[in-house]
Amino acid sequence: MDITILGIESSCDDTSAAVLRNSTLLSNVIASQAVHIKYGGVIPELASRAHQQNIIPVVDTALKEAGITIDDVDAIAFTRGPGLVGSLLVGVSFAKGLSIAGNIPMVEVNHLHGHILSHFIDLPDRELPHPSFPFLCLLTSGGHTQIVRVDSPLKMEIIGTTIDDAAGEAFDKCAKVMGLPYPGGPVIDKLAQKGDPEAFDFARPRVDGYDYSFSGLKTSFLYTLRDAVKEDSDFIEKRKADLCASLQATIVRILLKKLVQAAKDLGIRDIAAAGGVSANSGLRNGLLAEGKKRGWRVFLPEFKFTTDNAAMIAMAGSYHYRNGEFSSLDVSPVARLEELEK
Ligand code: KG4
Ligand code: ZN
Repeated sequence: MDITILGIESSCDDTSAAVLRNSTLLSNVIASQAVHIKYGGVIPELASRAHQQNIIPVVDTALKEAGITIDDVDAIAFTRGPGLVGSLLVGVSFAKGLSIAGNIPMVEVNHLHGHILSHFIDLPDRELPHPSFPFLCLLTSGGHTQIVRVDSPLKMEIIGTTIDDAAGEAFDKCAKVMGLPYPGGPVIDKLAQKGDPEAFDFARPRVDGYDYSFSGLKTSFLYTLRDAVKEDSDFIEKRKADLCASLQATIVRILLKKLVQAAKDLGIRDIAAAGGVSANSGLRNGLLAEGKKRGWRVFLPEFKFTTDNAAMIAMAGSYHYRNGEFSSLDVSPVARLEELEK
């Protein structure tokens, strides 16, 4: 029997709805919020308000594009967390309203599981490559940096995590001090293409196990700029491409080092990337190069599945649905991952 899932994602600054039939994506609508650009970061209160404005048209469009009505939906999958609580609240409340109105069961999804399980989505005109279990997923987003051992769609364990900033945060914060717009990751990626990745040597962390740290790099980047600007006030403008290329290369090296170690230690050779930073060209090329050297099968998400989207939430939700895991109407959003996992 076909299973049709409506996914709803509102954890940060993208309002998204998607329709998935079994593993095939029928629609995936994303409304990105331009309101934050002028502030150089996401303003939670503005994000909640924009979600409220966007959610009805976004869901409506997703259903229409999929060629279905709400009566065809078997379950509503929504992001319960982690994320901004006000933003999450809009998606969770909307899912509840639809659930009551249409008598449709609800399924809650951990946003990070969504990113990882985006690797199991197929498109109507083609199947996408899916990793085999167990695989390792390097999950790098604006808020999280993790190495996850994925044993099955419903069983995964974080084996490494950042002890301070996330990789996406390192991109965004360093972009900000260079006067680049938010989000900084894609801008740095683009500027880095024209720069020399060896031009600057930034600090690299020494952290045990598979954990990460990016705050030292950020400080080292900041000091380099501060000292150089004292000598030459046009320094950033003149060396922007080299700064971006060197920063990106350092972040990629840090990410890959622990991933390579984990893959070696665990003897796992199916390696996937997920989350916003997995759109980064340096990281994608680095993963492919390591894969070639080490005999990995490397799974890079399609660009549209790297940043936040509801397709991945519908995909993750479909596994919970098939496993009979439903949410009751008293479910509330959870901002922090640690609380979600309790
Ligand atoms: O997964 P995501 O959309 O949202 C969170 O759940 O955080 O990730 C957003 C992050 C931002 O930090 C953004 O700068 C980063 O992903 N990002 C990139 C690129 N595209 C997005 N970082 C580096 N290179 C990119 N091409
Ligand atoms: Zn995300």
